[in-house]
Amino acid sequence: MPSENAVLITGASRGIGKETALALLKQNVKVVALARSGDKLQELQSQYPDQVFTLAVDLSIDESYTSVIKLLNDNNLQLEAVIHNAGALLNKPFLETTTEDWDFLLKANLMSSVNLIKTCHPFMVKGSHIVQIGSMGGFQGSSKFPGLSAYSVTKGSLSILTESLAVEFFKDDIRVNCLCLGAVQTEMLEAAFPGLQAPVQPNEMGAYIAEFAMHAQKYFNGKVLPVSLADPS
Ligand SMILES: NC(=O)c1ccc[n+]([C@@H]2O[C@H](COP(=O)([O-])OP(=O)(O)OC[C@H]3O[C@@H](n4cnc5c(N)ncnc54)[C@H](OP(=O)(O)O)[C@@H]3O)[C@@H](O)[C@H]2O)c1
Repeated sequence: MPSENAVLITGASRGIGKETALALLKQNVKVVALARSGDKLQELQSQYPDQVFTLAVDLSIDESYTSVIKLLNDNNLQLEAVIHNAGALLNKPFLETTTEDWDFLLKANLMSSVNLIKTCHPFMVKGSHIVQIGSMGGFQGSSKFPGLSAYSVTKGSLSILTESLAVEFFKDDIRVNCLCLGAVQTEMLEAAFPGLQAPVQPNEMGAYIAEFAMHAQKYFNGKVLPVSLADPS
């Protein structure tokens, strides 16, 4: 069986990740969709049965990556893009944060990226693209907000990882960029800033990320890009 190209996206069960997956699927791209909520991934599977490969995994657990490798091998898939969109939020004053809180966010926001990229690298084709979904909260020099220190620090770490891997993977012809998003109307935004009306809807941002993942590696490498009309929103 000849191998097929696909785009892998994490956090595809809702919000921006789901809309990014849908934007890619509408363009006939094959999609590997990961998240913990298997029932929500099943909705994508029912809509695009021949085009989507879903896997319910918790990316903060090391063992999950064995099943990602199995899925890619079993379906003979190569990756033309990896979009690491899954992320977790904690809204809690810094002095109340516990070691467990920091450990949780480091695993969910940073180590998930480290483990995902190590897992996917052998499957990535020449000219492929790794897109990290960062946050304006983790963009150096942006406005910061009380309660979001652990979230902002762990999202910010993706910027340096992006710059480092862009250099390391240059010889493999794999480009790495980070999009630092401003406010998008999702469940996470509501948890971070209750009542805030965002200027961008998830389907709009999903369409932009899909386009960026498929084409921007021709123009950008190692870039940490703010995707925001204003700072902060
Ligand atoms: N919305 C905004 O305004 C905004 C602004 C800046 C940056 N961002 C970033 O954009 C990304 C998407 O945000 P969103 O607003 O769409 O968030 P969301 O609605 O909370 O969705 C988060 C997604 O990540 C998945 N996820 C979380 N933890 C996971 C884990 N341990 N393993 C696997 N999947 C996990 C969730 O699926 P399950 O629960 O099913 O696992 C869900 O699909 C995040 O990285 C966020 O930091 C968002």
